[in-house]
Amino acid sequence: MTLQTCSFSVDTRVTSSASPLAPLALWRDRTGAFSVLRALALAIAVAPALPILWRIATADLGPRPLTEVSHQTGLWAIRLLAVTLAVTPAVELLRLPRLVATRRILGVSVFVWMVVHFVVFVADKSFNLAVVAHEIFARIYLLIGTIGLLLLAALAATSTDSAVRRLGAQRWKRLHMLVYAIVLLSLVHFFMQSKLDVSEPTAMAGIFALLGFLRLPRRFGQTLTATLTLAIAVATTALVALVEAGYYTLSMGAPFDALIGADFSFDLGLRPCWWAAIAGVALAILGWARRLASPNKGAARPAMRGAQSR
Ligand code: HEM
Repeated sequence: MTLQTCSFSVDTRVTSSASPLAPLALWRDRTGAFSVLRALALAIAVAPALPILWRIATADLGPRPLTEVSHQTGLWAIRLLAVTLAVTPAVELLRLPRLVATRRILGVSVFVWMVVHFVVFVADKSFNLAVVAHEIFARIYLLIGTIGLLLLAALAATSTDSAVRRLGAQRWKRLHMLVYAIVLLSLVHFFMQSKLDVSEPTAMAGIFALLGFLRLPRRFGQTLTATLTLAIAVATTALVALVEAGYYTLSMGAPFDALIGADFSFDLGLRPCWWAAIAGVALAILGWARRLASPNKGAARPAMRGAQSR
């Protein structure tokens, strides 16, 4: 069970007796059996590549194809980072410890998407590493992104079962707390490169805030329920709206009440604060559905709690 706390590790047990390619069969569990949850995680990690590949194949990437691929890969890297961090609250809410196995596949996929994002940037500079290095040190948002990528590489490098054993569970867990620094760096990178329209980074920041707040009940010895999830989602939505309106009031002198009004009206489409609400309501509905499906299941068992290190 201890090893199941590892989110980025690669499963090695299944593979020794099978073909050398067996480690790539990520949809199999530790016993070698097909796992629906792992297959689903793999599909979530890989599916966003399909429309990008299709657009490459049909030359439908606009006037600056590499820039467009860089944008798409960056977006999916940060979105999948959010999906990865959603696993822990989902395990607790749905009382489904088996979900933990999806976290390592999702975590590895974030690293792969970030590497592709970086490689596309390098390709855009015609693989001239001197130019790449110069750009990274000249533009702070690139330096911040690079630090995030290096930290994630450290997590990926310590992701094998043998690395967990070598480090020991406690040190491994402490090291993997770096994921929160990676979230912060990714968000700053996202905000800084967005220039004028910061709607999408603000929406992502709201979702990450929600995922952070959903971890709080456990810190205070409470079990995360669907009702609590909904309450936290409402509070996070309000907080994002307040912070966003406060920022524009302070930086541009725009009237606070008009900004708050705009945040909660749908005239301008879905404002960024609503994405935390959508994510929270979706999780709460899953929680209620799970409860209806198996009303007698108790709160998270101790073994499950151990599995939720992040
Ligand atoms: C923590 C790692 C990283 C994450 C999560 C990340 C994520 C993102 C995101 C979400 C965007 C915005 C995409 C959009 O708005 O459509 C972006 C843009 C971009 N990123 Fe990253 N990135 C990371 C690291 C890097 C690194 C290491 C580099 C290169 C050194 C890089 C170069 C760029 C560039 C050039 C853009 C487009 C900027 C523009 O169009 O002006 N990123 N990234």
